[in-house]
Amino acid sequence: MDGNGRWARSRGMPRPAGHREGVKAVRRVVEACRKQQIEALTLFAFSSENWRRPKTEVSLLMDLFISTLQKEVDSLHANGVQVRFIGDRTPFSTKLRTLMDNSEIRTQDNPGLRLTIAVNYGGRWDIAQAAREIAARVQASELALDDIDADLLGKQLSLADLPEPDLFIRTGGEQRISNFLLWQLAYTELYFTDTLWPDFDEQSLLEALASFARRQRRFGQTGDQVERIQGA
Ligand code: FPP
Repeated sequence: MDGNGRWARSRGMPRPAGHREGVKAVRRVVEACRKQQIEALTLFAFSSENWRRPKTEVSLLMDLFISTLQKEVDSLHANGVQVRFIGDRTPFSTKLRTLMDNSEIRTQDNPGLRLTIAVNYGGRWDIAQAAREIAARVQASELALDDIDADLLGKQLSLADLPEPDLFIRTGGEQRISNFLLWQLAYTELYFTDTLWPDFDEQSLLEALASFARRQRRFGQTGDQVERIQGA
């Protein structure tokens, strides 16, 4: 969700105003995904590298996460959204961690959109914690070295129970993955747009979905093979 800072600066406003506007975009996109019956949406709200930002901005973002959760969880729950968080929560305040835990517990049985918010998340961290978990099981003789393959590692990752993402959207003109879902994006279609996150709306999402629909996903096969399977 890139471009909050630039959105604010271009209006002569402080960066926090851009983040507050970014929350409105989150609301719009969650609503649009529900309307499109999208199964899962994962938002990268705070990366493990974002701690390097000025202290005041980090603190503002933490306050914004708290107030957004306090304000939005009732409505998410009422709309059947299942909320969860991925990332290392240990550095967050007790207040924020409690809010995250409570929103997850409250919405865990909801049948609708599976909304994941990545906070203090990094794709490399995720792979490393999976490797550590597997190593511990080998050490405890629960697993043999030969049992370790890509399938097993994938099952230890934070999003193991979700299908791999079909589409990755990055706003704000950046064309990088920046340590997001490194493992899971292997076959994901990538979509980059110059639109700044606070300007991203339902129409922007529909354009991204239309771009996705025009692509042929081959998963290593040839175009002819895919066409034959689709025609069958
Ligand atoms: C990146 O834009 C944005 C962030 C690091 C924060 C994103 C967080 C939100 C939109 C709030 C979401 C809240 C919840 C609870 C999901 P940037 O600051 O890097 O902007 P720039 O590229 O213009 O500098």
